[in-house]
Amino acid sequence: MQKTPSASLTDRLTLFLVSVSDLRDPYMMEHSSHVKDLSLQLALQTDFPRSKLKQLAHAAILHDIGKLVISETVINKPTRLTHAEYLMVQQHTVLGYDLIQPLNLDPVIGDAILYHHENYDGSGYPSGLIGTAIPLAARIIRITDMYDALTSERAYRGAFGSKEAAILMKNKSQYFDEFLFNEFLKII
Ligand SMILES: [Fe+2]
Repeated sequence: MQKTPSASLTDRLTLFLVSVSDLRDPYMMEHSSHVKDLSLQLALQTDFPRSKLKQLAHAAILHDIGKLVISETVINKPTRLTHAEYLMVQQHTVLGYDLIQPLNLDPVIGDAILYHHENYDGSGYPSGLIGTAIPLAARIIRITDMYDALTSERAYRGAFGSKEAAILMKNKSQYFDEFLFNEFLKII
């Protein structure tokens, strides 16, 4: 998704929203861009509908946009979150979904934003959806988002290497669509 005059309005609005978020959380733009690239790679490795690749890219770029409306103190807190703060952060899925509704984007995008923290075993949020009840784009972003978070340096820890991240994720494999996760392991 490039900043060219020919980019669609959706592309430009997407980048605008992410650049606003990036001013608050400088990690946001880089992370969103990595998640987009990884998600497209994973989708291309599978039979993800080619007609929905653009929507997947937008969803990946915008997946954490709801953090924009959560207190900066909480979002950028360098120390461990309290339970109440953790619950507040979890709201970024629903808030992100609500935030983009006026843009009237393809439902694939809103659903992926809403459900990108659902776990395949039903232990995720906000709805505790299980298995293929979780939209495909959200199942992809669940994997690529966690991988990029682990392999990025954070205020409270260094970055894990690719192999370490894969091991950590294998220990949480119940969170992921098994087929997608196995395909992802071939990419990284
Ligand atoms: Fe998120």
